[in-house]
Amino acid sequence: MAVTGAGLEGIIAAESEICFIDGDAGILSYQGFDIHTLAENATFEEVIFLLWNGRLPNQSELDGLKKSLVAERAIPSEVTKFLGSVPKSVPMDVLRTAVSMLSLYDPLAKDSTIGANVRKAEKLMAQTATIVTTFDRLRNGLDVIEGDPSLSLAGNFLYTLTGKKPDEVMEHTFDVALTLHADHELNASTFAARVTAATLSDIYSSVTSAIGALKGPLHGGANEDVIKLLLEAGGKADQAVANVQAKLDKKIKIPGFGHRVYHTEDPRATHLRVASEELGRRTGHLDLYEASSAVEKLVKGSKGLNANVDFYSASTYYSLGIPIDLFTPIFAVSRMSGWTAHVLEQYRNNRLIRPRADYTGKPVGQPWVPIAGR
Ligand SMILES: CC(C)(COP(=O)(O)OP(=O)(O)OC[C@H]1O[C@@H](n2cnc3c(N)ncnc32)[C@H](O)[C@@H]1OP(=O)(O)O)[C@@H](O)C(=O)NCCC(=O)NCCS
Repeated sequence: MAVTGAGLEGIIAAESEICFIDGDAGILSYQGFDIHTLAENATFEEVIFLLWNGRLPNQSELDGLKKSLVAERAIPSEVTKFLGSVPKSVPMDVLRTAVSMLSLYDPLAKDSTIGANVRKAEKLMAQTATIVTTFDRLRNGLDVIEGDPSLSLAGNFLYTLTGKKPDEVMEHTFDVALTLHADHELNASTFAARVTAATLSDIYSSVTSAIGALKGPLHGGANEDVIKLLLEAGGKADQAVANVQAKLDKKIKIPGFGHRVYHTEDPRATHLRVASEELGRRTGHLDLYEASSAVEKLVKGSKGLNANVDFYSASTYYSLGIPIDLFTPIFAVSRMSGWTAHVLEQYRNNRLIRPRADYTGKPVGQPWVPIAGR
């Protein structure tokens, strides 16, 4: 039996039409569309349609999807009640539990037809955003804001989080950030979703598995660690560089750097670097961009490691006024599009995912020792 390297590195575990990555050339594409083309032209709603359907929507298809996403924004009152009852909890734990709860109140939960799964994907897309903003309002003792049906998913998220309608630049920047985080082939959380879906378990269980995987600091949790690193240095470039150098000396990994697949610039970081600088300038947080830039030069120069998607998204989100502990939940709001696309694809051509382990334990046939003699 073939034995693989640790962490399934370099292993092709599934066929997929959704996402292509060339880690040496720094290419990322969704359904054949280069991420740069999408970041420059697409809205996040167009990207959701593209991921689910394999092609761009025409105007009436896009209008239809937007209408469904607006119509599905409201969450069950039981979920709102739960969100109000756990104000001090870690937002990713709350999100994981609340998304799992959604299935209890979905009349389609037990319907596993393609049509029902697409409807559930729409609900998950719309309601994940509502869960995050509702939780944040409630934990701060604020009224929950009803969404504005005229706003995009990105615009409505910022509005229902902060109570202020975002200006065009803020909305556009956040919309692009959602596009950049939407899918990434068989990253850990998407693989977790596909493993669960491949048992023919339901879509809610699949994305709940994914949220659990995304939470870890080696995956989506890294963006929160990046901003903490920048703020600990008081946003000062010299201090940030000194702190990072001290970590490198102790062989501590620097959040926001390195990648299993990219051996060159992560194409998502290219856009987020620009967003971090532009928003930083607008909102008075240019120091965070400058500190990030200095840290990037140090880590690239001394370790040859490139910034990944989490590095500049941290200062970008901070400039958007998003609370730090919501950075990873926001990643989930976006990646829900990719997770659901992959789960739908898994259902279309399913086979149980069940690899083997390379056994390194004691020889088989150990003698049984009665408990008194152990
Ligand atoms: C993303 C990540 C988990 C990929 O891990 P991986 O493919 O298993 O790579 P490894 O952890 O084995 O790293 C390979 C080498 O690069 C080093 N390295 C990788 N990422 C590093 C980082 N962020 N800072 C410092 N060194 C790093 C490792 O120490 C290791 O060096 P060694 O061979 O001398 O021991 C890893 O780069 C990391 O932990 N990054 C920080 C967390 C992060 O930003 N995650 C978000 C990813 S989008």
